[in-house]
Amino acid sequence: MAAKGDFARFNYVAIFFHWIVAALIFANILIAWQFCWVQGPMRLLAFQAHKSIGITVLLLSVLRIMWRAVSTLPPFPDTMRSWEKGASKIVERGFYFIMLALPLTGWALVSASDLHIPTILFGIAYWPDIPLIGALPFDEKLAVYSASVDAHHMLAKITYVLIGLHVLAALRHQFIKRDHVLARMIPFLAPRRAPIDLRRWRIAASK
Ligand code: HEM
Ligand code: HEM
Repeated sequence: MAAKGDFARFNYVAIFFHWIVAALIFANILIAWQFCWVQGPMRLLAFQAHKSIGITVLLLSVLRIMWRAVSTLPPFPDTMRSWEKGASKIVERGFYFIMLALPLTGWALVSASDLHIPTILFGIAYWPDIPLIGALPFDEKLAVYSASVDAHHMLAKITYVLIGLHVLAALRHQFIKRDHVLARMIPFLAPRRAPIDLRRWRIAASK
């Protein structure tokens, strides 16, 4: 972990998990946005790609949580005030919930679907449905299906909000506060030389 004053990066494994999972989530959202218009063989391909990427996010997130449990997190930089640290922790926990709940509800909805389209991960490996759901009576299966579709859609909307807040916060740190927060998650980004404390800056500006 690099250190420079109060600057400390996330370790490389955490950085790898962060960017690969972020890229896969963005890709899966973009693919899902095509579901309403794509037809024919491309539709099947889009659903298989979406399911494969989603299950990959689920597996990587389990590994990521295990890694986070045994590794040390870098402390927040001194430029962050307590409400910023609190907000950042809430959004990050929200993401961990989403990274598990979004794929799990997707998996539940395909397991309860009457279409019975098998999930083949990246066209290579068969991924089974959730076992007990397939054995449920018709009415209960239908109830599980509609509950998981609703939950999946709702969680997707929450994800959009979390991504919006998270990205705006990262940009604010980089371009307004000019502190080290973004560099903590990007190995090749040099730490900023002149972090500013916005509170002090505002007091000085108002004098
Ligand atoms: C990174 C994880 C995932 C993300 C970000 C994601 C995102 C989305 C989004 C944005 C939609 C469209 C929702 C809407 O129309 O409002 C969607 C629909 C869908 N997702 Fe996922 N998903 C993920 C994982 C999964 C998994 C693991 C599966 C199945 C194994 C799955 C199966 C589906 C299906 C079948 C639909 C269409 C449902 C419908 O509208 O009838 N998703 N997903
Ligand atoms: C779906 C996309 C994303 C997800 C799910 C996500 C999730 C997370 C999580 C869970 C953390 C906490 C650290 C960890 O446990 O690894 C984190 C930290 C961070 N993320 Fe993201 N992130 C996403 C996209 C982005 C993007 C696009 C940016 C930059 C514009 C970004 C910048 C950061 C930064 C700078 C940190 C470190 C914050 C700190 O110093 O505590 N993230 N992210």
